[in-house]
Amino acid sequence: MTYNTTLKKRSKMKRIMNIFLTQCTTADSNAIVIDADSLMSSKTLIRRGLTPENIIVLNNNKDIIKKAYKQGHTNSVVGISTSVLPYLPGLYDLIYLDYCGTPAANKNGYWNPHMDVLWSADRLTENGVVIVTFTTGHIDNAIQRANLMIPNSLTLVKEVSYCETTPMYVMILSKSPDVKPLRDRFNLIYTKVKNHKSKLVQQMTIGKKRKASTPAYVTGVSWNKVSKAWQVCVKNKTLGRYKKREDANLLSKFISKKITVIWGKDHRKAFKQYVGHEFKCTVVKKGKTGWLVHWEEEGNFGDIPLKWIKELRD
Ligand SMILES: C[S@@+](CC[C@H](N)C(=O)[O-])C[C@H]1O[C@@H](n2cnc3c(N)ncnc32)[C@H](O)[C@@H]1O
Repeated sequence: MTYNTTLKKRSKMKRIMNIFLTQCTTADSNAIVIDADSLMSSKTLIRRGLTPENIIVLNNNKDIIKKAYKQGHTNSVVGISTSVLPYLPGLYDLIYLDYCGTPAANKNGYWNPHMDVLWSADRLTENGVVIVTFTTGHIDNAIQRANLMIPNSLTLVKEVSYCETTPMYVMILSKSPDVKPLRDRFNLIYTKVKNHKSKLVQQMTIGKKRKASTPAYVTGVSWNKVSKAWQVCVKNKTLGRYKKREDANLLSKFISKKITVIWGKDHRKAFKQYVGHEFKCTVVKKGKTGWLVHWEEEGNFGDIPLKWIKELRD
């Protein structure tokens, strides 16, 4: 079971789910989360106010559990969920079975998601929630298999199919049969995060002045005698200095523009999966490698070589 933290950090669905986790819990909640080495899910719950001790982190990797212990999750357990869940005492308000696997039980019998869901159903508080994520890409009828795991004691609140590096599926289950408020809450988060910065929403926003895509105050390219370089300036801010005038011209032409890039050669392990894929971004200023860009989907920044640029979008 491999998991790419970098990719998840960029995932809108992850952001949606993290917000939702906070809405399923209060500071007094007890939770179980299958977490990755970034401990993103448990950190989200700590920010919500949960006591670290009341968040049990599960992972089959002992280093991740060591890390969880250091963060105060002292009831965390190493091992595959199906082997460790039966030993956990008490009831839980949230059980986040964030697997990377298919809904089929593992051949050697260590992992059986169906067993995990049944165990969870038995250990939820009255309004408790179980969230289960699967990859659906490598198996027939994955969603049907996942749905067949839902016992009578749980109600399906919401299901979403989405795509990361592979097709994924999440089902949100509740112990309470009154699931509409929870579903509405999820849908609201989903819509807000998905629409964040979308063109349609910007166009539909009345009464708010939209920023022009190019700052009117780019003063252009000038020669800086002191640094002996061509510089691109905005007001009194220098966005980059180049030895060659053509490079400065290029930056002044592209600054604040929306571009599409194709991720080129990348030897960094965590970034290999992006190679050859297209991403949308806006040029911010000169970077160390090429240009510093703002990734549209993820809302963070990256430094990309100029040759990765595929097209100017406006
Ligand atoms: C999808 S990631 C968890 C991501 C995390 N919830 C987050 O939002 O960042 C799953 C992690 O748990 C491990 N894992 C997957 N299935 C597991 C299982 N059934 N029992 C224990 N660990 C599991 C994987 O190796 C991986 O490190």
